[in-house]
Amino acid sequence: MNLRFTLNGKPWQVDCEPQETLAEVLRNTLNLNGTKVSCEVQVCGACTVLVDGVPVSACTYLAYEARGKSVTTIEGLEKPDGTLHPLQQAFIDEFAFQCGYCTPGMIMSAKALLDENPQPTRDEIIHYMDGNICRCTGYVPIVAAIQRASEVMSKETKK
Ligand code: FES
Ligand code: FES
Repeated sequence: MNLRFTLNGKPWQVDCEPQETLAEVLRNTLNLNGTKVSCEVQVCGACTVLVDGVPVSACTYLAYEARGKSVTTIEGLEKPDGTLHPLQQAFIDEFAFQCGYCTPGMIMSAKALLDENPQPTRDEIIHYMDGNICRCTGYVPIVAAIQRASEVMSKETKK
């Protein structure tokens, strides 16, 4: 199947098999390995990407479902000059990862949250992020990183 879609702001077309998942096409065909795959059954959130701004589990989302849509992966967050997205920087500043395997999915879910609700409360962050599992950091620094990014982004908006 020929898949045409927008990927990280640019038009793309790629051949894929009908049964291929979006995660497989991103990682195996397009070499975008930032999107991780762990459980493969839509439980852990490691594979989260945004489709038309909505977080989806790319491990179970068929690639052809993305036709005509806009897909954003972790690779699409930094600016063209290499400046990290405030969420990426906040995860570094708050030491919000150890192995880092969950981190791209965490950041993509957090981006969807902040796009929808730029200044979430701590409870709102915890509730929104409950589909993303981390096996090593613990969740306190992850929540702190999202709060930090929210503060940075709201200051940038006011400038
Ligand atoms: S790998 Fe997709 S939700 Fe776990
Ligand atoms: S940092 Fe290792 S799973 Fe989250």
